[in-house]
Formats: sequence, structure tokens, C-alpha cells
Amino acid sequence: MSQAMKQQVLSKDSDDQLSNGLYGWYAVCVSSTLVNDFLYFFSMYNEPLILYRDKYSRAVCIKDLCTHRAASFQGGEIKSGEIICPYHGAKFSSDKTSKDPDRICCNQIVDPTYNTYARNIQLHQYPCVEKDGYIYIYYTGNPSTNVHDIPIHSTLEELEFTPISYGFRTSEYVYEEALLDFRCDWSRIVENHLDILHIFWMHGNSLPGNVVNRKTIKSFNHKITKTSNYIKCTYTHKDNENTEFITQVFVPPGRIYMYRGSPETARYIQVLDHIPLANNRARVMVRHYRKFIKNSTLCKLILFSLRQRSIFYSIFSEDYLALKAQTFNEQMGYMTNKNMKLLAEDKAINWYWKWYESCLKNDSPWDRHKLSPNTNTLYDDSPMTYPPENLRLERLVNYRFKIRLILRILILVGLLLFVYTIL
Ligand code: FES
Ligand SMILES: [Fe+2]
Repeated sequence: MSQAMKQQVLSKDSDDQLSNGLYGWYAVCVSSTLVNDFLYFFSMYNEPLILYRDKYSRAVCIKDLCTHRAASFQGGEIKSGEIICPYHGAKFSSDKTSKDPDRICCNQIVDPTYNTYARNIQLHQYPCVEKDGYIYIYYTGNPSTNVHDIPIHSTLEELEFTPISYGFRTSEYVYEEALLDFRCDWSRIVENHLDILHIFWMHGNSLPGNVVNRKTIKSFNHKITKTSNYIKCTYTHKDNENTEFITQVFVPPGRIYMYRGSPETARYIQVLDHIPLANNRARVMVRHYRKFIKNSTLCKLILFSLRQRSIFYSIFSEDYLALKAQTFNEQMGYMTNKNMKLLAEDKAINWYWKWYESCLKNDSPWDRHKLSPNTNTLYDDSPMTYPPENLRLERLVNYRFKIRLILRILILVGLLLFVYTIL
């Protein structure tokens, strides 16, 4: 197909609309991270937020702002699900038995004189749901003291957002996961994960097996299915239409599924969640579900999880090389379509950009909590779990992997020698 024809196909198909924009459900954390009495600080579109478990172990998401004198809870405490402000010691919790069970009210501030008044000091919240080991929030840019005042347009299930609602039987899988923070534009990371061809060229050396590497790179046919909830793109080999390379599903605003075959039969599913922390700060949660090597003892023995983690880290470090330059910079601003000429395989990316640009106009989430060059950088350090520009963690994981592998080989050789001597 000529380049002109490709461009025609791209623009003809791009009129269709996804119903959801940049406000809506986001997976922001995994359940295992959110232990009791732990404050998990993060941000969304520059807005400082906290996740924690209340006294009933329910996950809640609040704005990081104490409504007495607007202090941050950084440096504060949480005890038995009650959050305590570091500024004047106000204590907040929700109570299922109170007349305001959906509000997080102040129980006590300064001394008992204020205890009745204190109930009017309430924290701002976003709807928060825990499912399949993920914590989801419904982000609108406008939190409320009564969480039910935020209208939720569609449930996670209605949007086919969760792996189960999308058709995967998660009970048949085990998974490894990793969390990574990037100093780059959120939209660029989503786009990176919709880019099929770069997997061969950029990640060929890091991926196990020899199916995907620079020598096997070629163009694909692809079939696109669109619903109002998602865009699904199935890539098939050109020389054999019946052989699928991969299927990708983009469920806005921030989730991508990757698998081969159908949701019922896929051997593995990769679920990628993209969290817009702040200008030029994005977080990716990746979970790799698999149907093979499910026995946990065997997994430990062959160091499967450690190996998988080390693969995640090298792949994201490679991605970061491209992302750093692609992202916003003072001279060039954000890249636009004028800066690029897409191939047929980039069709899903083209649709994604149409969606993103229309969302920026309609929702404008970045305008709601603006950052200026003088904004303080309180949030720059605390949530950075694994910034790929800091390779310490990647090195540590690789080091642990190598040491444990050598130990296992030595033990195996020792055992064999022992058996040999006895016989
Ligand atoms: S600002 Fe939090 S107790 Fe005063
Ligand atoms: Fe990549």
C-alpha cells in the first residue's frame, strides 16, 4: 500500500469516538502495596493524593490536604485506620455507624472543646474500589467530602475495564508485577505501549526466546475492532493471515491489555496501567499474568519472578531512552503529528492521539492543577519507586539473580557429586 493510501485509511477510520475521556477509572496501586496503617502518597494530574486503608481495611483515596489549615499529611501518622495531621494533630476517620458513613470527618482537634465542631472538618475524597488485587480510583479533578456526590458515569464492569469483565479468568493465572516511574509525558508512555514494531528493534535482546528480535522484524496485517469502551488491534503475520502475533486492547484512559488468542485461551496477559502523576511524571504498573509454571515452589527454585522482574526493568530502561527525547522540552514543546509520518502498523497510535487530543480539549485535566516553573517539588522524590534513570534497582535485581543462580548450580553439582560418590 502506498504511503498516500495509508494516510487515507488512517484519517477515514479516525472519526469514531471512545465514550470515555481522561476523567474516569484508573488503577493507581496494587493491593499488596497498600498495607494497613500506611500512607501511600501519589498525585494525579499534579493533584496531591493519598491512599490508605480505613479502620475497616477499605481502601480510600483522599486529597493530600487537611481541611483545618490546608496542611499536607506528609510527616503525619496513621493509627488503626485513623489519619493524624502533622500540623495540629487533627484525627480523621470514617465510621460506618455514624450518620455520615461516607464522609471522613475530624474526630478530635486540639482539645474536647472543639470535638462537636470538628465533625465539620472533612477530607476530600475520590471514589475508590479494590478488585483483582488492584486499587482503582474514579478521578474527576474535583474531589468531594461526600464520595457519593461524585457522579460515576460507568462502573468498571460496564467499561470492560477489569481483566475479569474483559473476559479473562484471572483465577487460572499467576502473575508478576512491577511499578516504574518515568520523567516523561504520560501520553508518550501509553503510545509507547501501543507501538508494536519497537518491540522487535528496541527490546529484541532483552526478551527471552528468539521469536522477537531485530532479525525477525517485519510488517504486519492488523484488524481493528472499536467499541465505545475500547480499541482492539490484532496483528497477524503477513505471510500467514491465520497466525496471530499479538492483540492489544486500549481501554481509556490508562489501561492496555496485550495477549495472544482470545481472553479465554491466552497463555499470558500483560496488563499495563498508566498513571498521569504530574507534568512530565508518569507511572506504569505492569502485571504479567501467565498460565504456565504456576507452582510457586518451582517458580522460586528456578528464580522465575526475579528473572521476570529483571526483564521488566531492562525493557523499561530501553523504552526510557526513546521517551526522554520524545517528551516535552522547553524548545520544542510537545511533539505533534506534524513531526512524524506513521506506518500502517501505527494505526492504533493514530487513533490514540485523536482520542487524546480531543480529551485535552474537552476535559483539560492538566489545566485544573497547573504547575508553574516555581512550583515546589514535594512530590518529586517520595513516589519514585524505580525511575529508570537511576539504574540501582535494575543492577540489584540482576545481581541477586546471578548470585542465586550460581548458588543453585553449585548445590545441584554438589548433590550430583554426592549421589555419584555413594553409587
Ligand atoms: S492543618 Fe491539619 S490539623 Fe491543622
Ligand atoms: Fe517498549
